[in-house]
Amino acid sequence: MSKSTDSSDIIPTPKQETTAPSSVRYTEETVISVLYWTPSLLSFRTSRNPNFRFTPGHYARLGLDRCEGKVVWRPFSLVSGQDDDYLEFLAILVPNGEFSEQLADTRVGDTIQVDKASYGFMTMDGFAPGKDLWLLATGTGIGPYLSILRDATTWNAFENIVLVHSVRYANELVYQDDIKAIIQAHSVDKFSIRLRYIQVVTRELQLNALSARIPQLIEDGQLELTAGLPLALNRSRIMACGNPEMIREVRALLTAKGFQTNRRASPGQLAFENYWLIKP
Ligand SMILES: Cc1cc2nc3c(=O)[nH]c(=O)nc-3n(C[C@H](O)[C@H](O)[C@H](O)COP(=O)(O)OP(=O)(O)OC[C@H]3O[C@@H](n4cnc5c(N)ncnc54)[C@H](O)[C@@H]3O)c2cc1C
Ligand SMILES: NC(=O)c1ccc[n+]([C@@H]2O[C@H](COP(=O)([O-])OP(=O)(O)OC[C@H]3O[C@@H](n4cnc5c(N)ncnc54)[C@H](OP(=O)(O)O)[C@@H]3O)[C@@H](O)[C@H]2O)c1
Repeated sequence: MSKSTDSSDIIPTPKQETTAPSSVRYTEETVISVLYWTPSLLSFRTSRNPNFRFTPGHYARLGLDRCEGKVVWRPFSLVSGQDDDYLEFLAILVPNGEFSEQLADTRVGDTIQVDKASYGFMTMDGFAPGKDLWLLATGTGIGPYLSILRDATTWNAFENIVLVHSVRYANELVYQDDIKAIIQAHSVDKFSIRLRYIQVVTRELQLNALSARIPQLIEDGQLELTAGLPLALNRSRIMACGNPEMIREVRALLTAKGFQTNRRASPGQLAFENYWLIKP
């Protein structure tokens, strides 16, 4: 965490415990599909206990047990909609990661443990009313936005939505068909598109994609220009999810413009979800 940020603004990244919650706190679910986008990026679905409830933007805690009784627990954002009868997740396999190694061996029909509760602060309910919702993601951070975009509450609350997805390589621009379908479903006609989808590819040239990192695109005005909307305190509500360095930089840029993070007692204009801790 940056020393320069106000510590009261910081939503703690959950501790990545390897021990199970008490056995009454999780259900055993079955993996029902696995889709690899790249050799190290996959989406998977599990069965859903009918009592499992979540708000779009929340994450679940998943437990895998492929090593003789040692369950590894990790938080994963929910990609599926509130009403789907399955749970869907988007995951990257990080080299030498404890959970990643087990997930790489996971197949349809395998068992996965799902904590009965869902968690998180990156939800719509913390925002002061606004006109435009900006959803900024690096890598797998796009996952919870799919769930948010599938929720009617989001579309009732905002006139315009800007989805920004920054990835290293173009083949990591996942869920493009789902996003196109959502754009179509919420467009009045081809001149009034409510969802602007901005692709950012940082490590290779890609037609129609921006190439600089999100904080730089905010700083030099390219993001506003591409979206055709201003980032303004009176109308913009902003979520950022994924790489904690990106979040730290975005937070610093926007708080300098007067934006404030949502807090339980006072709604603001910013909400964040860090996927790992910044190394000291
Ligand atoms: C609230 C929350 C929600 C999360 N949601 C997701 C999600 O939806 N999808 C997902 O893939 N991961 C998500 N993560 C990260 C996830 O919990 C694990 O950290 C990740 O699956 C790797 O686990 P691991 O045991 O293999 O490695 P770990 O020991 O947990 O991580 C090792 C290193 O890998 C890198 N890393 C971890 N996660 C990511 C990532 N998502 N993208 C790029 N680099 C990463 C970091 O440098 C980290 O220090 C989330 C984390 C948090 C805190
Ligand atoms: N993506 C892969 O090809 C790949 C393959 C196998 C394993 N992995 C592992 O997965 C992890 C990385 O996964 P990832 O590529 O999804 O996540 P990532 O490193 O967070 O990169 C995703 C996007 O975020 C950008 N980014 C990185 N730091 C930023 C910052 N400070 N501010 C703004 N934007 C920033 C990246 O731009 P830059 O390109 O400029 O960094 C990229 O566009 C690593 O552990 C890696 O070893 C990745």
